[in-house]
Amino acid sequence: MAVVTNIQDLRAIAMRKVPRAIFHYADRGSYDETTLAANRADLAAIGLRQRVMIDVSDRSTATTLIGEKVALPLAIAPTGLTGLFHGDGEIHGCRAAQAAGIPFTLSTMSICSIEDVAGAVDKPFWFQLYVMRDRKFSESLVERAKAAKCSALVLTLDLQIQGQRHNDIKNGLAVPPKLTLANALDIATKPRWIASVLMGRRHSFGNLAVRQESDSLSTLSQWIAGQFDPSLSWKDVEWVRSIWPGKLILKGILDVEDAKIAAQTGADAIVVSNHGGRQLDGAVSTIKALPRIVDAIGGGKSEIWFDGGVQSGQDILKARALGAKGCMMGKAFLWSLAAGGQAGVAQAIEIIRKELDVSMALTGTRDIEQVDRSVLEL
Ligand code: GLV
Repeated sequence: MAVVTNIQDLRAIAMRKVPRAIFHYADRGSYDETTLAANRADLAAIGLRQRVMIDVSDRSTATTLIGEKVALPLAIAPTGLTGLFHGDGEIHGCRAAQAAGIPFTLSTMSICSIEDVAGAVDKPFWFQLYVMRDRKFSESLVERAKAAKCSALVLTLDLQIQGQRHNDIKNGLAVPPKLTLANALDIATKPRWIASVLMGRRHSFGNLAVRQESDSLSTLSQWIAGQFDPSLSWKDVEWVRSIWPGKLILKGILDVEDAKIAAQTGADAIVVSNHGGRQLDGAVSTIKALPRIVDAIGGGKSEIWFDGGVQSGQDILKARALGAKGCMMGKAFLWSLAAGGQAGVAQAIEIIRKELDVSMALTGTRDIEQVDRSVLEL
């Protein structure tokens, strides 16, 4: 097998290992994928300043995120359907993240349940909440996250309604996966996925088992349209605040006006995100939005984080330089999980940590805490 040196290598392995419908779910964006492409292109367009003859022998990428010590400013983003990329994928991902010293976020739309993951790891993880039409059910998820001792709640704000992803519809993506004539041939070429996922124990939304039964004939996008609530407003954020006294992270802010409102909630962190280019196509890239939001609300109580296109240590260095305290990665996580389970995710985090460490050194920076806009070629 070819030597893996970067995240794109893991993506290429993932493409070979999992069925097309699953790979596309992670890999692709909404509509014309303009925003998906802009997230990467705008990050790539930012230059770094090469500096020389500075003693960089003693370096550190360690910092804190919402008061938790981390080995580098990176967290695993909440991703739906994780356990369809690798059997028990959420457990593999959480174990790899915790061993590497970074936080793991479990999605509401995970395959392993909150309890499955809590029973398999020693340290607390974070739980991501979608407030669904049925508020009582959403409340029960929060109670389960409390019982599992989750150390933060990540509330997603940018998916009241789903942006259309053409591939998911064309592929007939459904949970549990449907074995149709159209995808049978493709699945037949993925024996390791059949052994790991299809012959594994869990194929359906672990946190939502009961709710999904009646809807088992619908595709994922039809199901989301039925369960997710377009009437959500900032009042619901207040409501979540009232039932979750712990650390709260608001994910999905892209606009300065929304950032100002989000900051007023007193959230511990706000994640600048366009849902990985999976929602409003035509929305600004996250790396363009980040400095605007930092200028508007930086220095306040809420940490500002960055998400959208994070696939290398250089990306983290750039986001940090533009004022992000931390980054989240979703696609790179799912590719590495599909490529190699827990070991694949561990490898991805280590690749990114090393890239960050070396890139810091080449910009003459010893400590991640010293990184500011002066490392950028603006
Ligand atoms: C859900 O969060 C998705 O982006 O599919």
